[in-house]
Amino acid sequence: MNLDTLKQKISVLKSKANDDFLSSVSKEDLDDSYRSFLGKKGEVNLLLKTLGSLPQEKRKEAGKILNELKSELEEKYLSTSVSLSSSANQERLNKEKIDSTLPGFQDLKGSTHPVTQTIKEICEFFERMGFDVESGPEAEIDYYNFEALNVPDDHPAKDMHDTFYLNNSGLLRTHTSPVQIRTMEKREAPHRIICPGKVYRKDSDLTHTPMFHQIEGLVVEEGASFSQLKGLLNDFLEDFFGEKVELRFRPSYFPFTEPSAEADIRWNKNWLEVLGCGMVHPNVLKGVGVDTKKYSGFAFGLGVERMAMLKYDIPDLRAFFENDLRFLRQF
Ligand code: DAH
Repeated sequence: MNLDTLKQKISVLKSKANDDFLSSVSKEDLDDSYRSFLGKKGEVNLLLKTLGSLPQEKRKEAGKILNELKSELEEKYLSTSVSLSSSANQERLNKEKIDSTLPGFQDLKGSTHPVTQTIKEICEFFERMGFDVESGPEAEIDYYNFEALNVPDDHPAKDMHDTFYLNNSGLLRTHTSPVQIRTMEKREAPHRIICPGKVYRKDSDLTHTPMFHQIEGLVVEEGASFSQLKGLLNDFLEDFFGEKVELRFRPSYFPFTEPSAEADIRWNKNWLEVLGCGMVHPNVLKGVGVDTKKYSGFAFGLGVERMAMLKYDIPDLRAFFENDLRFLRQF
């Protein structure tokens, strides 16, 4: 080979390498081209190996142009590599661009159901007054739901049409009053308890659902009196509604209390019934072995949904059980 052929080869190689470098689409691609031209077994080295076939006096010059070619290609490789990585960055930035019009991530937080919230509020008031929270089974037996509460056999609440009876002669409790009996059986007087829970009746219309919630209250103490009952209920109702209330006791009848009263509050211009109450009937106290010479008791029972309907001005009781989030989120 002579010097001219070498020069020709070099110029062909140069433009080929330039083209290859420039057309690389990725860093890997570019590195492949680098190896095929400038690597150990690359084309530049192959040419260097042919130097030996040149006449002695031409070798020096040929070596010089080959070295120039080498450093020129090295430089080309570096600059191409820089521009490739900056365009890769740009591409990544384009992909990762923040779209501030997209909806944000929302932390979906639940909230307590208005019935649960009302139960909690009511229990908290009575706990401040020294009451303990008690509970009992929803599937009851006749004895606790009726008999021990002095409910006569011919009482309408015992009718098949009014109560859900179970196959095993049990029933779904129709009120939370059985918890009074269970507590008094369990412990010695005195008692101050509050019992929230679900109760069941065969009723369904605008103001009745087959399941609803009640809270039962019971106080058995030395000297527990009717006036204490009225004072306590007055304090409770004012705490619950957050304003002064006008409370009226209306004579009523419950088998487990004597005397019995229905408590009404003045609501706009009308009287609204809010709960039932009375002095615990001596038959009830005697039945669980309470010394009626020493202790007397009073009790009350209220409907939770009814209280919440009044407080939040909700016209339809069924709204509490439909689980419509638009309704529930208002609490
Ligand atoms: N258990 C009654 C009912 O479900 C409510 C009630 C009234 C409870 C008077 C009482 C009470 O403890 O003294 O209708």
